[in-house]
Amino acid sequence: MTLDEIAVQVRTCTKCPLYKTRTNAVPGDGNPHAKIMFIGEAPGMNEDLQGKPFVGAAGKLLNTMLEKAGLERSEVYITNIVKCRPPENRDPLPDEKEACSPYLDAQIGQIQPHVIVCLGRHSAEYMFTKYGLEFPGITKARGQPYKVDSLFGHFILFPVYHPAATIYNQQLRPTLEHDFEVLRGLINNE
Ligand code: URA
Ligand code: SF4
Repeated sequence: MTLDEIAVQVRTCTKCPLYKTRTNAVPGDGNPHAKIMFIGEAPGMNEDLQGKPFVGAAGKLLNTMLEKAGLERSEVYITNIVKCRPPENRDPLPDEKEACSPYLDAQIGQIQPHVIVCLGRHSAEYMFTKYGLEFPGITKARGQPYKVDSLFGHFILFPVYHPAATIYNQQLRPTLEHDFEVLRGLINNE
């Protein structure tokens, strides 16, 4: 399945109850040949309205962080664990994450990135569990590269705090900036 074919399926998906309250599903966006892939949690209000990931306040902050890492948004691929907005921006439920995960798995298989940046706990926990790593929590895991073996070869998992978390808790911002500087070094070695 190509990324476009995956997106077509996502936009019409009814595999979990989130389809009932969405305006638009948000399959993902960016370079299909990206070396770096970013995985967030779930679309928010602006993403739901536009059908694109990270276009609201968290997206603005992500853009700033990408600059720190020396990355253009057009060269990376950005998606979420769950492709439809949970009502009131609540956390996605385990059943919703499970129902949606085949789309993410297919996207990763298509893109075959060298580095996957997990934005926040939901994303990091899913990826660690999927690839057989014990997840020590986002506070311990963040800012460090984890080498992972997959069907298409190895890649690096790099968890960071969710940009939105650093909007609510400004004290986390310097850590997020630090981790994107680390990411810059990591990418230069890839
Ligand atoms: N937060 C996310 O996790 N994903 C988005 O697309 C927007 C905000
Ligand atoms: Fe389908 Fe995922 Fe949307 Fe649920 S969140 S309806 S599984 S695309």
